[in-house]
Amino acid sequence: MKLFRSKRARTAVRKEPPPRHIAIIMDGNGRWAKRRGLPGTAGHSAGAETLRRVSSYCRDIGVQYLTVYAFSTENWKRPKEEVDALMALLDKYLLEAIEKMERERVRMAFFGDTTVLSPELQARIAQTRKLAQKIDGVQLNVCLNYGGRDEIVRAARRWAERAAAGEGGELTEEVFSDLLWSAGVPDPELLIRPGGEKRLSNFLPWQTTYSELVFMDTLWPDFGPKQIDEAIAEYHRRERRFGGV
Ligand code: FPP
Repeated sequence: MKLFRSKRARTAVRKEPPPRHIAIIMDGNGRWAKRRGLPGTAGHSAGAETLRRVSSYCRDIGVQYLTVYAFSTENWKRPKEEVDALMALLDKYLLEAIEKMERERVRMAFFGDTTVLSPELQARIAQTRKLAQKIDGVQLNVCLNYGGRDEIVRAARRWAERAAAGEGGELTEEVFSDLLWSAGVPDPELLIRPGGEKRLSNFLPWQTTYSELVFMDTLWPDFGPKQIDEAIAEYHRRERRFGGV
């Protein structure tokens, strides 16, 4: 078996270990399409291809978790045609993932309230989750109908319900973390936002308190191993102090 598919992957791994967990705000699909005179949905399709490429690359260089913002709780405000196209794209992506997950070694998981999605999509997600249990490799957490504040409020509600039922105990950061969608997943050391904007847009506010933030101008559909390497190199240049000296 070929361990590394590219020379770049090999070089990156040899230098320093990569972050264990990378989070990405996949931004810039609309602008990428507009610049080519294409409909916005073409940008999302290209973005989905990029996700495939980036997931494989992250697996090859030894990243254990990749978390991507695919659809936020605010994205429902987009035109219905765009929302429908994104859902159809997701369905197609999952279908292919189900077929290839074992071979590709990209284990899919989901953060967000998926119960409001179509029954077909929910069934596909359930199928994907079941299959994922058997897979090693990189874990791809797809944030779907995800909002960071929503995640925190839901966790607080769950805690309150427990406390009301007399199952409280002490509320610590660890206990609270286990009530989030990301329970059991270590916090991302590196968060990358392509597309030039410099904000977090309600993405993983609890989990990214100590993440290194790397903002890049490249639009998401143009992203690839080179940009991931650049972001990781920037991460390695930063001095992480976690509030210490
Ligand atoms: C932001 O681009 C991107 C999104 C709202 C959706 C991201 C989705 C994908 C990359 C593909 C689907 C994912 C899966 C898992 C199949 P934008 O349209 O806001 O870009 P703009 O800022 O240039 O307008």
